[in-house]
Amino acid sequence: MGEEMKRIEAAKQASKLRAASRSTNLTGEQLFIRTCNTCHPGGKEGMGPRLDKLSVNFITDDSLKAFIRHGRGMMPAQPPEVLNEEEMNNLIAYLRELSVQLNEDEANKH
Ligand code: HEC
Repeated sequence: MGEEMKRIEAAKQASKLRAASRSTNLTGEQLFIRTCNTCHPGGKEGMGPRLDKLSVNFITDDSLKAFIRHGRGMMPAQPPEVLNEEEMNNLIAYLRELSVQLNEDEANKH
């Protein structure tokens, strides 16, 4: 590879790394802690309700997404500028797991 090509490759690589470090694609857990935990501490009841009934109240992921996008009452909306589609999917996956976990914790108490 000529010197010129090497420089171009190095510049491309650096620009990719910069783009990746700017990405706001957080994991579902990071998003939950950042945006939801104040009112649903650890998924438990706070200013908002305990999140253990998601499989009953939101049968499809689309219905859960729509609820989170729009918010309700005290609960703020999460428009795409705040939570992109990939982050929304990460958050939904985390919420599904969290909901199952909360039910298991409850079952293990008895
Ligand atoms: C300012 C407090 C607040 C924040 C922040 C908040 N919520 Fe809520 N949440 C609420 C309240 C209050 C309700 C009950 C809304 C109603 O039905 O009137 C609720 C309801 C819900 C429900 C419905 C539960 C059910 O089974 O009916 C889900 C799911 C939910 N929140 C998820 C989230 C997620 C995910 C986030 C973060 C993106 C979040 N909330 C952030 C206050 C909040």
